Amino acid sequence: MTTQRTELVQRRDAAAIAVHARELVLERARVSIAERGAFRIALAGGSTPRALYALLAQSQADFTRWHVYFGDERAVPPEHSDSNFRMAREAWLAAGQVPQAQVHRMQGELGAGRAAAQYERELISSFGSREVPRFDLLLLGRGADGHTASLFPGTTALSEARLFVASTWVEKLSSNRVTLTLRTLNAARHALFLVAGADKAPALREVLHARADGPRLPAALVRPWEGGLTWVVDSAAASALSGR
Ligand code: 6PG
Repeated sequence: MTTQRTELVQRRDAAAIAVHARELVLERARVSIAERGAFRIALAGGSTPRALYALLAQSQADFTRWHVYFGDERAVPPEHSDSNFRMAREAWLAAGQVPQAQVHRMQGELGAGRAAAQYERELISSFGSREVPRFDLLLLGRGADGHTASLFPGTTALSEARLFVASTWVEKLSSNRVTLTLRTLNAARHALFLVAGADKAPALREVLHARADGPRLPAALVRPWEGGLTWVVDSAAASALSGR
């Protein structure tokens, strides 16, 4: 196990988070393409990353080398208002910089179980290996309850140790989800959390100050075993951290 320093970056608000995150994404892309000829990024859903995606739509990069994946998806079709793919397409991917064949959508319309199995096959095919896929960059959000991707506290997907992708029933949302598993998240070369809003403050303190031997919220379990970990948070989300 390689211990990784967790980098915490605080910015004024959600817009400033997006500006900083864009620079991190473009830099990781440059490094990944230089080292491996491609940049494989997994996108976060929810609302926080939308501003980042909109900035990427206005950015210059060698997008022909980018492969875009998703960290999780709802069990809905791509045009549904709950679809993470729809959000990313409207905010960024519709700009057409990334070749369509290199956008790897989770097919939520199949239902969570079949969509998870399909995505497992998609990852194996796209990465050209049955080894755990190592994303160059993993974008993650974090809910007020400490969930990340669709790994919610107390759900079965949290304990999935073999599969790369899992389906999971989220009781509190009465919703089926598809999510990358912790095994996949922790194989990433770099994980980047984007967290904004005062409602995220209590769990952020709990996650960042989690004891190794204590109970940990799902987001606290994301510690890439051989990769970097960066949290970019706004002042409101950071308001409960020590020394503030
Ligand atoms: C999802 C996301 C989820 C999200 C958090 C934070 O499908 O909902 O993947 O993990 O990142 O819920 O969402 P906000 O950015 O909207 O606060």
